[in-house]
Amino acid sequence: MTLTFQNLRKQYGSHLAIDDVSVHFEPGLVHGVIGPNGAGKSTLVNMTAGSYVVSGGEIRLDGKTLSGLKKYQIANSGVARTYQNIRLFDQMTVLENLEVCFYPTQVGQVWREILWPPFATARRKERTRACMELLSFFDLQNYADAEAGSLPYGRQRMLEIARALVMNPRVLLLDEPAAGLNHHETAELTARLAELKSPDRIMIVIEHDMDLVMTVCDRIVVMHHGKLLFQGTPAEVQASSDVQLAYLGTANDLDDIKAAAQDRRTQLGIRARRRS
Ligand SMILES: Nc1ncnc2c1ncn2[C@@H]1O[C@H](COP(=O)(O)OP(=O)(O)OP(=O)(O)O)[C@@H](O)[C@H]1O
Ligand SMILES: [Mg+2]
Repeated sequence: MTLTFQNLRKQYGSHLAIDDVSVHFEPGLVHGVIGPNGAGKSTLVNMTAGSYVVSGGEIRLDGKTLSGLKKYQIANSGVARTYQNIRLFDQMTVLENLEVCFYPTQVGQVWREILWPPFATARRKERTRACMELLSFFDLQNYADAEAGSLPYGRQRMLEIARALVMNPRVLLLDEPAAGLNHHETAELTARLAELKSPDRIMIVIEHDMDLVMTVCDRIVVMHHGKLLFQGTPAEVQASSDVQLAYLGTANDLDDIKAAAQDRRTQLGIRARRRS
């Protein structure tokens, strides 16, 4: 099983957000996608999951072309994702958020559920059991009957990942799963992600939290201005001068950034003194 981006392009009007990107993603590994704001990371996830149409090139899973398929067809091919901004069903309970995603993928199963009550009962039990197991994995079992929208932010992030896992996806796409988490929650997430690694699953994690990326990822893709800047192991990425430049700019830029930050601190200090 491989997921392949082949000469991928995405154009928003006249803006080229993804420019000729080719990457292979392998199962059993966690692939990190990093890059400065606006580099095109979420656009890659949105195209893979079918939320955005590709402007050029191809996305293939196991040789089957995903680009051009509808969102539900891509989901049924085994691709699941989370969002940069959490999107839960706020009014539903935590358990229901998972159960709605546990749907029969074959028409035959749908008819059996409708026409044969014992089968429907067995399916319902299996659904609840599988969803509770996932909730326990994310330490959410005590929230099962709570409204999803009432959960603390960190728990909502975990619930979103749990929901993406309900159909046991072959490809798991996580768009900034650590965004807004505190240090303790990020450590918990890092441990969970490491446990989710499986020979049957391709994991792609977009993240700005470099501790998480360097700990959990086996391979890292670095995006910059819509282009693939670098790919390699965490050690190779850390040693790359191209990557350092993309994040920090040139040595002169760095001096300018430091001077601007100092300037800003001085201004804030003056304002604070005036107020007191
Ligand atoms: N729906 C859209 N319509 C128009 N332009 C878009 C759209 N989505 C993204 N863009 C633009 O495409 C570029 C890449 O955006 P994208 O969201 O993929 O970046 P990102 O790497 O995920 O950034 P961040 O780290 O801030 O989340 C940006 O210039 C952004 O403004
Ligand atoms: Mg993004």
